[in-house]
Amino acid sequence: MLSHLLSLEGIEAVVVERHSRRRIEERIRAGVLEQWVADLLVETGVGDRLKREGLVHHGIALRFQGKDHRIDFAELAGGKGVTVYGQHEVVKDLIAARLAAGGAIVFEAGNVSVHGFDGDAPVIRYHVDGEPRDLHCDFVAGCDGFHGVCRPSIPQGALTVYERVYPFGWLGILAEAPPASDELIYAHHEDGFALLSMRSPQISRLYLQCRPDEDLNLWPDERIWRELHHRLETTGAPWRLTEGPVLQKGVTAMRSFVVEPMQYGRLFLAGDAAHIVPPTGAKGMNTAIADVRALSRALTAFFKEGRRDLLDSYSDTCLRRVWKVQRFSWWMTSLLHRFDDHTPFDRRRQLAELDYVTSSRAAATTLAENYVGLPME
Ligand code: DHB
Repeated sequence: MLSHLLSLEGIEAVVVERHSRRRIEERIRAGVLEQWVADLLVETGVGDRLKREGLVHHGIALRFQGKDHRIDFAELAGGKGVTVYGQHEVVKDLIAARLAAGGAIVFEAGNVSVHGFDGDAPVIRYHVDGEPRDLHCDFVAGCDGFHGVCRPSIPQGALTVYERVYPFGWLGILAEAPPASDELIYAHHEDGFALLSMRSPQISRLYLQCRPDEDLNLWPDERIWRELHHRLETTGAPWRLTEGPVLQKGVTAMRSFVVEPMQYGRLFLAGDAAHIVPPTGAKGMNTAIADVRALSRALTAFFKEGRRDLLDSYSDTCLRRVWKVQRFSWWMTSLLHRFDDHTPFDRRRQLAELDYVTSSRAAATTLAENYVGLPME
């Protein structure tokens, strides 16, 4: 996305990717785009398939004590909504657009390392087909994820880490089953959280709260479906989860993580390289795109007008929004999950909070405005 935004300003960028094109185009990840992200993809010419295939949603349901309570985004957040469209679909569209425009993407780059970013002439070193390459550049954008090489290349002591690890994870499946609801259902259940999401009118995406180190071998499909039925059960209005063949399954551990600052010399961190949110609320990809939008503006001001101010304030600009997104993701996680150390008091308080969020317009509005995406500035 950063190289796409920069290319629209006439600024050249080379994407150095560790994995194969096939792997990053197929790996199932998040799937909810904030309103402004969908708008940005369309405005910048990479939204044709998104417009055709993306599912626009104007609300979600919070399900607790067997009943649904709708949060109406359109009404509470000025007509805004979200678009359900897989992150790997965004990746496919961006790769196609970059290659069609003659952009450079190096796939399957090995032994990637970054050097010299504390001076004016950074170098990215890597191997392709066993051959060493040096890429001389003006700036390095560390968009290489939580496990990437950029953040650990910054000298120890220059970054402060803020972190919280949650005592649970999500077991996620992709199933060939028409979604049992037109909108996402976030279910609070005394045995743990469950989420019904989707990728298309034929494909459901479902999640169950599980142990952080859950062993997938203990979860044959039949057990997953039984637990999903149980946690998504309703009282009152009849509703039934639709089942189908399980296409993929996996376990995601959950943490909140931020490093400050998001810059060291000419190395700028963006996305998961700088911060991780627990998945509840679907903020990971959206926050990464917010970072690279700020970075593309800052680099554009530098190259076109010789201004350094936006580069100098990049970290502060991003972190101000990042921390609000951290707060929201932590809050959604706390609101909906089962915590083993909760006392009966905590459980009553959690239900009261769900009741409050779904009955007070003021409280529902704070959920809605965060879910559809906070403004950048
Ligand atoms: C999805 C993931 C989320 O974390 C979420 O809050 C909603 C939907 C998804 O993968 O569809």
